[in-house]
Amino acid sequence: MTTQIDARQFRKALGSFTTGVTVVTTQGTDGLDYGLTANSFNSVSMDPPMVLWSLGKKSSSLPVFAATDHFAVHILAADQEAVSNQFSKSGTDKFAGCALTRGHGGVPLLGGCSARFECRVVHRYEGGDHVIFVGEVMNFDSFDHAPLIFHGGNYGLVMKKGEAAAHTASSFGDGWLGFLLARAYYQLLVPVRNNLNGHGLRDVDYNILTVLSMGEGRTIEELDKLVSISGFRVTPEDVEALVVRGIVAVEANAQAEKRVVRFTEAGRSYAIELLTIAKAAESDAERELDYREAQVLKLLLKRVIESTSAALPDHWRRDQFWRDEHLWRDPVASDAA
Ligand SMILES: Cc1cc2nc3c(=O)[nH]c(=O)nc-3n(C[C@H](O)[C@H](O)[C@H](O)COP(=O)(O)O)c2cc1C
Repeated sequence: MTTQIDARQFRKALGSFTTGVTVVTTQGTDGLDYGLTANSFNSVSMDPPMVLWSLGKKSSSLPVFAATDHFAVHILAADQEAVSNQFSKSGTDKFAGCALTRGHGGVPLLGGCSARFECRVVHRYEGGDHVIFVGEVMNFDSFDHAPLIFHGGNYGLVMKKGEAAAHTASSFGDGWLGFLLARAYYQLLVPVRNNLNGHGLRDVDYNILTVLSMGEGRTIEELDKLVSISGFRVTPEDVEALVVRGIVAVEANAQAEKRVVRFTEAGRSYAIELLTIAKAAESDAERELDYREAQVLKLLLKRVIESTSAALPDHWRRDQFWRDEHLWRDPVASDAA
C-alpha cells in the first residue's frame, strides 16, 4: 500500500457504508456467460443515464469484462442471498440453476431481482487494484421486490426509520421491550378475544386451542405444561368444559396407554375460524408496515425469542412442541401419505 493505513481497519471503515448487492453479468467473446457479485455499483448520471461498478484486478472475470461491450447489473432482492453467494464463488458454475433471458449484446439476464440495468460500456478507468466500468443504460426493469442490503460484511434487510423510532422512551414502561411486546400482543388479540367471549370462552380456552392447533393428541398434563408459560394453568375442569361445548374430545391414544385431547370436527372448524380472525388482525396491524418491515419485525422477534429461550422449560423446545398432527395440515396430502 502506498499510504500507511491498516488494511483491516480500512476495510472495516468502508464496510460501515451500507450498499445493496448486485450481480453483474456479461457474455464473453467465447459465447459463454460470466458474472460476479458486486456491491461497488452506483448511479452516475441521469442524462445520459449512466451507472458504474468496479472489478478487482485479481478477479478471473477481468479479461472477459475488459473485452466485452455490454454488461447487465441485477440489484438483488431480499430473498436472493443464495444468488449473491453463488456468484461470489470463483471457479464454479455460477449460472447453475438460473433461468436466463437475453438482453442487449446477448448479456444473460437473471429474474427475481429488484431492478435490472442493461448497459453498454462507455468508459473503463484504472482504479488502483480495481478497474472501474462506466456503462450507459440501454434498458432497465424495476420490480416491486424489497432489496437485499450489505453492511459491515453482513447481509441485511431494509427498515424505514419512521417517526416512532426517534421517540422511543427509555423508561421502564412504554420503552420496555416486554411492555411493547405485551401491549402489541393484547391489542392484536382483541378481535380474537371478542369472538371467544361471544362463545362464552376465556383466554385459557384460547391457549388450549392454540396448543392443540400446533399438535393434537396431548394429555391434559401436557396441555397444562405447554400453556403454563402464559401464566394460565389447564385443569381437567377446563378441558371438561370444552368437551361439553363439543369443541374437544378426550379419548384413548392409538396405543391405548393414555387419554389424550383432540379436536372434534366442530372444534377444528372453530379453531380454524379463530386462526382466520387472528390472521386478519395480523394483516390489519401490518397495514402501517410495508412488506420488508413486517419481515424485519418478525426476524427481530425471533431473535428475541432465541436470546431469551434459556428461561424456557424443555417441553417448549420446538421439536417437542410441534406434533405431526397440525391443525393446518393438508388433509389430502396426509391421507395419501
Ligand atoms: C457482497 C459482495 C460484494 C462484492 N463486491 C465486489 C465488487 O464490487 N467487485 C469485485 O471485484 N468483487 C466483489 N465481490 C467479490 C466477487 O464476487 C468474487 O471475488 C467473485 O468470486 C469474483 O469472481 P470471478 O473470480 O469468477 O471473477 C463481492 C462479493 C460479495 C459477497
